[in-house]
Amino acid sequence: MKTIRVSLGPRSYPITIGKGAIRSLPGGLKKFFPSDRYVILTNRTIARLYRPRIRRILKTTKPLGWIVIPDGERHKNPKTVAGIYERLVQLKADRKTGLVALGGGVVGDIGGFVAATWLRGIPYIQVPTTLLAQVDSSVGGKTGVDLSSGKNLVGAFHQPVWVLIDTNFLRTVPRREFLCGLSEVVKYGIIRDESFFRFLEKNIGKILNLDHNALIHIIGRSLKIKADIVSRDERESGLRSLLNFGHTLGHAIETLSGYRRIHHGEAVSRGMVYSAVVSYERGLCPMGVVDRIYNLLRKIGLPVRWPDYSKKAYARVMAADKKAVGEKIRYIGIRGIGRSVVLPLTVEEITRYL
Ligand SMILES: NC(=O)c1ccc[n+]([C@@H]2O[C@H](COP(=O)([O-])OP(=O)(O)OC[C@H]3O[C@@H](n4cnc5c(N)ncnc54)[C@H](O)[C@@H]3O)[C@@H](O)[C@H]2O)c1
Ligand SMILES: [Zn+2]
Repeated sequence: MKTIRVSLGPRSYPITIGKGAIRSLPGGLKKFFPSDRYVILTNRTIARLYRPRIRRILKTTKPLGWIVIPDGERHKNPKTVAGIYERLVQLKADRKTGLVALGGGVVGDIGGFVAATWLRGIPYIQVPTTLLAQVDSSVGGKTGVDLSSGKNLVGAFHQPVWVLIDTNFLRTVPRREFLCGLSEVVKYGIIRDESFFRFLEKNIGKILNLDHNALIHIIGRSLKIKADIVSRDERESGLRSLLNFGHTLGHAIETLSGYRRIHHGEAVSRGMVYSAVVSYERGLCPMGVVDRIYNLLRKIGLPVRWPDYSKKAYARVMAADKKAVGEKIRYIGIRGIGRSVVLPLTVEEITRYL
């Protein structure tokens, strides 16, 4: 088992990664929660697949109850949160009650938000079950829910007390979701670590075959990069924005496609290729860098071309993006693989090469 630490002073916490790591959940509950009272939040899909096994593991350390929500991003909203609060009242959850968020990024974001707000904050453990959640959303303390007018509009920063990652969960993740997680993995290599990017180029076959050692390695390297960035910029005042590489165009593609047809990781994959093109066109990096990114994403099976909405349409949704600062957007470019930089650009400058 591998351990990574997120260093945030009194809010520091460890991440445990391993095949079969879920067996250490009972020990972690004792170690990281202030009392033996806790609840498990999950969704119907994961409950169906994993509740029997996890119940067996927790035979001597039973939760107050399981709170099972419906599956899907469309349930990541204040109504679901209100329903969870009601269940917490019924279960007599108090300030010393812990919450375990067992699921993908949707369950993790909702669980984190409930933990941030229930009785003004209770401790929670993330047990992420998709690759995206394992390499991204479970670490960093961003929690929240969507409104009908936009994604993640209501939220709070609230760090978990522990993140427990078991690669066995990945065996049942739908292929398309798995590839979406890989999109974020590639992102970490591009923004921060050329040797990691090279590892991905060499070992992509093993990774796509769910070789556990390869998976543990890439999750570990990804989270080390994320943990390092979050430790130095918990609330996204600077450095943390490097994690948005590929996301400016990615978010625009998601918005324009109405979120349904194109998944987040697929939109980010296209956005990353485009960011490389922008970097090349502005003289920051050679064409070879664009080619390496394009080829790796292609090999993985991720889409690499942006849909041909008009430049105007792209510009309009980018300007509405909440990350715009005055006239300029903190666009992320690269000088090479592993060397990302913040480029303050206007939407006209960003969309010029589409
Ligand atoms: N907080 C952050 O920093 C952060 C970062 C990135 C993304 N996010 C959020 O994460 C969410 C997306 O997360 P996601 O991609 O994990 O989506 P998700 O949680 O919707 O999971 C995708 C699908 O896989 C299913 N699933 C999960 N684990 C499974 C397993 N082991 N086996 C079979 N099926 C499984 C889920 O039920 C769901 O149907 C978005 O809401 C996004 O805003 C948050
Ligand atoms: Zn992302």
